[in-house]
Amino acid sequence: MESSRGMVVSADGFASAAGIEIMRAGGNAIDAAVATGFALAVTVPRAGNLGGGGFMVIHPADGAAVALDFREVAPAAAHRNMYLDENGAVAPGLSTAGALASGVPGTVAGLVHAWGKYGSGNITWDQVLEPARRLAHDGFPLSADLAQHLRDHREWLASHAESRRIFLRGGDFYQPDERFAQPDLATTLERLQHEGASDFYHGETAALIANSQTRDGGVITLADLGAYRVIERPVLRGTYRGFEFITMPPPSSGGIALQQMLGMLEPYDLRAMGANSADRIHVVIEVMRRAFRDRAEYLGDPDFHAVPQDRLTAPAYIRGLMADFDPDRATPSGELRRGLPTWVESTETTHFGAVDAAGNVVSCTYTLNGNYGSGVTVAGAGFLLNNEMDDFTAKVGVKNMFGLLQSEANAIKPGKRPLSSMTPTIVLRDGRPFLVTGSPGGPSIITTVLQVMLNVIDHDMTLAEAVAAPRLHHQWQPDRITNEAGLATEETLATLEAMGHTFALRKFYALESEAAAPRIGTANSIMVKDSDHFIGVADPRRPSAAAMGF
Ligand code: DON
Repeated sequence: MESSRGMVVSADGFASAAGIEIMRAGGNAIDAAVATGFALAVTVPRAGNLGGGGFMVIHPADGAAVALDFREVAPAAAHRNMYLDENGAVAPGLSTAGALASGVPGTVAGLVHAWGKYGSGNITWDQVLEPARRLAHDGFPLSADLAQHLRDHREWLASHAESRRIFLRGGDFYQPDERFAQPDLATTLERLQHEGASDFYHGETAALIANSQTRDGGVITLADLGAYRVIERPVLRGTYRGFEFITMPPPSSGGIALQQMLGMLEPYDLRAMGANSADRIHVVIEVMRRAFRDRAEYLGDPDFHAVPQDRLTAPAYIRGLMADFDPDRATPSGELRRGLPTWVESTETTHFGAVDAAGNVVSCTYTLNGNYGSGVTVAGAGFLLNNEMDDFTAKVGVKNMFGLLQSEANAIKPGKRPLSSMTPTIVLRDGRPFLVTGSPGGPSIITTVLQVMLNVIDHDMTLAEAVAAPRLHHQWQPDRITNEAGLATEETLATLEAMGHTFALRKFYALESEAAAPRIGTANSIMVKDSDHFIGVADPRRPSAAAMGF
């Protein structure tokens, strides 16, 4: 999709159209992104949300880039052992399913902050919410993709009566093309229009959330909601082969890991190796392994734990991470040397982006964490709450739902934000925004963003090719590679195995099993060719994703 005045990419056509509608009404890219964010809460209930949180990287046309942190926070009653049973073992499901799995939601605070401070001023609060309210009130025809997704998650959604009633129509599943209206959610959005975003944190919506938590066994209170704050953080800045990029600092691990991986890769001539060669895949896996080891060990919410960000991103440190790289052999994860020499300091999601002709750029990833979050819908308010508490370390040495091992740095504390992998990123060329990207996918968010960047910068792919190209993922532990179908030839994959790499899904090597193969990430992206030439690419892995131009 190409356009000259603006572009919005998101996981859903109605949501992208909401952003374009706002641009046509005189809004800038930030206004558009906010409208798209609210619309996704209606049309992509697996991840679009009011009851979750996220990160937004904004590059305003005039002014400094900023990272908005509207990540969920642990409620006041949360404590480090809250997901352990009486024997000290992690109680299965407690941090992922049901009311106790939720952090205090940040999305509404984040979106109102973005609109109020970085919007054009041409779009009222009422206007920016209107496409979402209309979609919830009037309903929209369900895509085959969403109808199937709801059906596939029937057990999760049926675990809570309100979720079952709304999203499964009481068990009478919605069919493709049927109109899906959400009257309770429409009422909530209308109340937000009239009362302002503070309704969500101090008003009737806050009361509905707190009541639902009490009834369902959660611990989020009115006081927790009232205390929620968006944090503006300095963007994390890095460079790669002459390109600059701005991305998310902690409590995301994504920016640091991305900077480390790109820094480790810079000395290698990936272009000469070729995108699908064993040499190139080997070095890419090895940098992923090393960055994720540091993620596990050192990262957490910087407001609670001193994250050694400068040391972890220092060029000499990053170069040193590859000191034990062997060009011919995989380094077993268990044998990696410790990263920092001494440790003295006490560290289904959806992605969308928008650009406009004035030069405003937004890259935003927000989430409920798992598909449909905790599975709990706030009674009377019609929206799902997140299960973001699972992103904390429930117990050191025990994996979370993404198989991530994490440290004390990410232990649960009241008011703390769980470590994230969300990596909304803007790549600059000659100081001007060039590539806007990001993805869902838990830890594979970071490796997806990496591969989109490498494909564009090193392998000269068009944006469509860069987004579509088969991806791989390695996260240090477990010590194995997940890959999409078509990553490389059988011969190349066998060479990599001979070097000591393990592929989790051997049967997915072959192209013919594509239908059954895993899909890694959904990198809806925009390339700015010129100030009036935008290319939007919806990731083909999600049939409903849509790029729309203006
Ligand atoms: O913040 C994070 O890293 C996770 N909560 C993201 C979850 C996610 O991407 C799920 N989507 N597929």
